[in-house]
Amino acid sequence: MVLADFLIATAAILGFISLFKNLLAFARWLHAAFLRKPKDLRDYGSWAVVTGATDGIGKALVFELASKGLNLVLVGRNPSKLEATSRELSDRFGATTEVKTVVADLAKLSGEEIAAAIAGATEGIDVGLLVNNAGLSYPYAMYFHEVDRELMESILRVNLNAAVWVTKGVIDGMLKKKRGAIVNMGSGSALYISSFPLMALYASTKAFLATFSRSISLEYERQGIDVQCQTPLFIATKMTRLKRQHVFIPSAEIFSRASVRWIGYDRMCNPYWSHSVQAFVTRTLDAIIVWGLERHMKGWREARERRISRSSNMVTHHEIS
Ligand SMILES: NC(=O)c1ccc[n+]([C@@H]2O[C@H](COP(=O)([O-])OP(=O)(O)OC[C@H]3O[C@@H](n4cnc5c(N)ncnc54)[C@H](OP(=O)(O)O)[C@@H]3O)[C@@H](O)[C@H]2O)c1
Repeated sequence: MVLADFLIATAAILGFISLFKNLLAFARWLHAAFLRKPKDLRDYGSWAVVTGATDGIGKALVFELASKGLNLVLVGRNPSKLEATSRELSDRFGATTEVKTVVADLAKLSGEEIAAAIAGATEGIDVGLLVNNAGLSYPYAMYFHEVDRELMESILRVNLNAAVWVTKGVIDGMLKKKRGAIVNMGSGSALYISSFPLMALYASTKAFLATFSRSISLEYERQGIDVQCQTPLFIATKMTRLKRQHVFIPSAEIFSRASVRWIGYDRMCNPYWSHSVQAFVTRTLDAIIVWGLERHMKGWREARERRISRSSNMVTHHEIS
């Protein structure tokens, strides 16, 4: 009887501790997602460098950062898209926002060339924030052996190499003034599920970014530099080809508003609230989610193959008739 009472009391205490821990985590998340005051990013410095600033999340982010009073260095590979983004910024924000552009194809330049281009463009300006946002994925679900060498090289260069070398290009300046923030755009594909079949290389580069960010965050946190890896889930952009946004798949603009609110806080974060809910479910049901994901990716491939075969049949039919 005494043993039974003891076991019941122990189970009750453990249950209470676990419940309390979860409630505390939930309250902390609610506070961070909706109530916490965003940092004044100008305290890090008056300029932000954003890679991949010509489309999707990067483009939305530069508008959000400009609205917070930052000047911008836009890094992109396409001169006319850079010019257009720069013009849109000056139309919206006028002389209050200064904009510089750096044309750099991050899949083509060597690491040293990338660091030199960034260091050159930022010489003499007070860079407070770097967002390593540029990223590349597969055009559709692919087995690893199907990823051609050029695409493989580009993914490794843009997602890994460029992020590391651009960081190299700004970190000395941040260290000198003992303030700065670096945001690396990771992905939930590397964090909330144990594997990502048919998107292996992409997800693996994002796992690298997460470890790189966490590690240098510890190296520099006492020197005034806040390093963070953001790990969003699906967002409606060119990369995902998702056109319809809804509560589970935000637009780049909605995501970027959440993203900016988190800069300077947690080492790892998933800024958009419904992505956090999805990540929680995904983590809890990992095996089922990975199984469903693999089926979905294969379905995506098959639909594409059917489309290609239908259109080649139509061409043959036209040629015959
Ligand atoms: N969308 C999502 O669901 C999602 C989810 C998690 C994480 N992310 C991450 O978020 C980041 C932005 O993704 P996104 O969805 O906004 O993609 P996106 O719409 O395809 O935009 C990617 C940006 O990167 C630039 N870029 C690509 N290759 C480049 C290169 N070789 N040199 C220089 N710039 C290059 C693109 O330039 P162009 O304008 O010239 O194409 C564009 O500005 C990526 O790191 C991605 O992995 C996205």
